[in-house]
Amino acid sequence: MKSGSLFLLRPQRLLTLAHSLPPLPHVPATAAAPVFRVRGLTKHYGEGPTQVRALAGVDLDLYAGEFVVLLGPSGSGKTTLLNQLGGLDIPTTGEISYRDIDLTHADESALTRYRRNSVGFIFQFYNLIPSLTARENVGLITEIARDPLPPEQALAMVGLSARLDHFPAQLSGGEQQRVAIARAIAKRPEVLLCDEPTGALDVRTGIVVLEALERVNRELGALTIVITHNAVMADMADRVIHFSDGRVLSEQRNATRVAPSTLRW
Ligand SMILES: Nc1ncnc2c1ncn2[C@@H]1O[C@H](COP(=O)(O)OP(=O)(O)OP(=O)(O)O)[C@@H](O)[C@H]1O
Ligand SMILES: [Mg+2]
Repeated sequence: MKSGSLFLLRPQRLLTLAHSLPPLPHVPATAAAPVFRVRGLTKHYGEGPTQVRALAGVDLDLYAGEFVVLLGPSGSGKTTLLNQLGGLDIPTTGEISYRDIDLTHADESALTRYRRNSVGFIFQFYNLIPSLTARENVGLITEIARDPLPPEQALAMVGLSARLDHFPAQLSGGEQQRVAIARAIAKRPEVLLCDEPTGALDVRTGIVVLEALERVNRELGALTIVITHNAVMADMADRVIHFSDGRVLSEQRNATRVAPSTLRW
């Protein structure tokens, strides 16, 4: 980690970092209580013969600071699970908790607080506001967050200090996605949920975006969950979860994380 980025961190995080250097390999301790506890989670859409069982009983624990890659075929329920973790949707049956918050039974205002304070979302398409600059797009979020990073610092973390006053149309796809990452991390979320963040990008640009995600995971310590169809990305994770037919098929833990710059697809 560059020493210049230390000023971005809260004191307690610096303490953690002091014990976790060098940054790679990075395997978080799993003895601690999970951040997310998912049990018997199901999600059904519709009724009768046309009913779709998007989630068919998911059991999963996710831990602070982990970089998790979620792999699975199209239609296997990955986005549905991510939406449940992010408090965007509620399950049909089962339980999902975030720390001491029961997301299954939380009311709308508690879910809004949870999404606003604890979760950063990154999607395949960047959803930037075209009439606002990079700095202003990130600034929108920092206005409603409790203890945000200044937009300039969030954009510096994703390597965009030279693009602060550019509008989305003046940025490449990879740069726009990095603005979206800066926007997601500016509130210092404990959880970063990414749904195919490199799905619209070529390999070289995708790797730059993955480097940005890897860096914010390492430096801010956010539990990072990345959905992808790209099995190569499994190597950069602490843990890989294989999803199939609405269930966890298997999982593997990597002893070391591979740097995104070495990935090719
Ligand atoms: N709002 C909805 N109404 C009805 N069915 C839905 C809805 N959302 C998702 N589904 C269905 O649930 C299943 C799981 O969808 P989901 O989007 O979670 O899959 P996915 O693994 O993310 O797929 P992909 O890799 O293509 O994005 C699919 O069969 C999908 O058609
Ligand atoms: Mg999906």
